[in-house]
Amino acid sequence: ERLPDGVTLFTLEARPATLSVGDQETRVLTYNGTLPGPLLLLEEGERVRIVLRNALPDATNLHLHGLPIPPAVDDPHRVVAPGAETSYEFTVPEGSAGTYWYHPHLHGSVTRQLFEGLSGPLLVRGPLERSGPLAAAWEHVLVLSDLSIDNGRVADHTEMDWGRGKEGSLLLVNGQVRPTLTVRTGLVRLRLINASTARYHQLALPGRALHVIGQDGAFLEAPVAMESLLLVPGERADVLVTAEEAGTLQLLSLPYARTPAGPSPREPVALLTLQVEGAPTRADLPTTLRPVERLDERSAVATRTLTFTGAMNPIRFMVNGRTYEHHRTDLTVKADTLEVWELRNPSPMDHPFHLHVFPFQVLTRDGVPAPFPAWRDVINLRAGETVRIAVPFREHTGDVMLHCHIVEHEDRGMMANVRVT
Ligand code: C2O
Ligand code: CU
Ligand code: CU
Repeated sequence: ERLPDGVTLFTLEARPATLSVGDQETRVLTYNGTLPGPLLLLEEGERVRIVLRNALPDATNLHLHGLPIPPAVDDPHRVVAPGAETSYEFTVPEGSAGTYWYHPHLHGSVTRQLFEGLSGPLLVRGPLERSGPLAAAWEHVLVLSDLSIDNGRVADHTEMDWGRGKEGSLLLVNGQVRPTLTVRTGLVRLRLINASTARYHQLALPGRALHVIGQDGAFLEAPVAMESLLLVPGERADVLVTAEEAGTLQLLSLPYARTPAGPSPREPVALLTLQVEGAPTRADLPTTLRPVERLDERSAVATRTLTFTGAMNPIRFMVNGRTYEHHRTDLTVKADTLEVWELRNPSPMDHPFHLHVFPFQVLTRDGVPAPFPAWRDVINLRAGETVRIAVPFREHTGDVMLHCHIVEHEDRGMMANVRVT
């Protein structure tokens, strides 16, 4: 809806609903009654107001994951009580065209609210998509999530689930079990969002390469062809597939071991079927996309180490040895400077690292340089791995958070407050 003052208005109402999930009537949590919530489609430069109404029995709030907007707007410390509403107003930054999503971020409640269904996709459109191959591509937004059902309700978390991160037995794409999507022959564009609390997806489309053109909230410089693509919780990928002839393709989730308990899933699982229809045609990939700035780590003003660990009895998680506290500032950085962060994961399981508001670039993984430059906001830290990233703190000041995006770990303390002054 366009308001008279030129602001585009979106309204999200968080409310419980009973929906059919994998053929079972289940009480879930929704935005506006659907699983996932509605697609928020924004344009670079657009002024936007998102009103969040809380029709849940518990407090909640909203996080616009990945958007580089002022921390005072996207503030996870906000608490929206049952029956209350709040609004988030901002201008969509130029150059932010990419794939994002939204979900609650009330510390301690994120896991259950997300696992029970509260999330939705958000896309920002920019000039690259107005003409050329991307304008002609068939596009689908695919929100990947998972769920376990117990007697018409979403299954509870066990103590073990808080340690490992809970994986639901139903693998959902846009709220459905193994849906079939119809596309026309030509170029197919998949906007993939991993909205699971903890499940990793090693994605593949047998018979076709995945031509990655964007990761998280940004385009790459040129398409990168991959046979399979790891998508960890919170992470997004913008992928082109050439479908020159009619036929069927299966999007698979392949086994990947993120904990010592072994691979999950144990066998490849089909997430969805792509039904390609129409006359044979050529599908030409774009050759270049958008330049990615090279960051010079020699201009960094500080190098810091962040170490991600867990402990038992009770199960809890730490950044630099400390569990999260609301009012503690863990790191202070200077605006308009570049920092290098060394992210260390000495624990026996993977942790997906996420930083709000300030996109960053991977420099090295265990000393090996990143294969191509890319702006990221979520990256996986494999068990035992050290990843060095360069983070420019530009444009915004205020308080932001970094955390593990296995949200069980976030709720159990693997989060820190960063103050940018
Ligand atoms: Cu999607 Cu702080 O997270
Ligand atoms: Cu976020
Ligand atoms: Cu973690």
